[in-house]
Amino acid sequence: MSQKCRIYSLEDFVELRKAGKLASHILDYIAPFVQNGTTTAELDRLCHEEILRYNAVPAPLGYNGYPKATCISVNHVVCHGIPSDIKLQNGDILNIDITVILNGWYGDTSRMYVVGEASKKALELVKVADESLALAIDLVKPGVYLGDIGYAIQAYVESKQFSVVRDYCGHGIGKVFHDEPAVFHFGRPRTGLLLKPGYVFTIEPMINAGGYKTRLLSDGWTAVTCDHSLSAQFEHTIGVTENSHEIFTLS
Ligand code: MF3
Ligand code: CO
Ligand code: CO
Repeated sequence: MSQKCRIYSLEDFVELRKAGKLASHILDYIAPFVQNGTTTAELDRLCHEEILRYNAVPAPLGYNGYPKATCISVNHVVCHGIPSDIKLQNGDILNIDITVILNGWYGDTSRMYVVGEASKKALELVKVADESLALAIDLVKPGVYLGDIGYAIQAYVESKQFSVVRDYCGHGIGKVFHDEPAVFHFGRPRTGLLLKPGYVFTIEPMINAGGYKTRLLSDGWTAVTCDHSLSAQFEHTIGVTENSHEIFTLS
């Protein structure tokens, strides 16, 4: 199965930078509100309001019927957690995933947050997820294969006795939310798409403290770990440049 990737121009990169910067701003903005006793619905409402203030649109809202502006995935929720009236508690770890559409361009990024004091294991999981994304991004430049990136993430995560989720992947992005190519967070070196300048995609490894298997809840969105172990994820939107890469979603 051969995958393609659109090529975006330098003018497109200017727009992607604006969208990416806004998405990362929302993650900065929400950080002080992530507290014991706050509901994820309240965090979603605050993010939604802040996105609208910039004349942007939250991409998840209405996407294939998704009901909220953001995805907030707490503890054993792997991704696509639907904000709800359940209150955050001391020791929870959560991912907030923001995708904005600004002037027709998408910016997609997510980070982990910790409520109060979390367990050593939870903090280690968050750190390894963060580091796995960073080392993957470091590899991005023309001439590298997507399989090299997946392999690097998997090798690092498994060396730390954690597992990489197989059921969800990164994706091409630009003027559409989810485009080709699929960016797997596991794989074999020198396989898959060869990177070229102008490619734009997300890398968004989900890693679990236990096994890699996931299960979808009956709401049709919420993905959880089968063994109920903790899960962590970070995401950036990245463009391939002539010699290296640009992270659009830096704050
Ligand atoms: N932002 C998610 C991603 O990283 C996608 C969320 S789709 C939704 O690709 F519908 F669940 F919001
Ligand atoms: Co994404
Ligand atoms: Co996302």
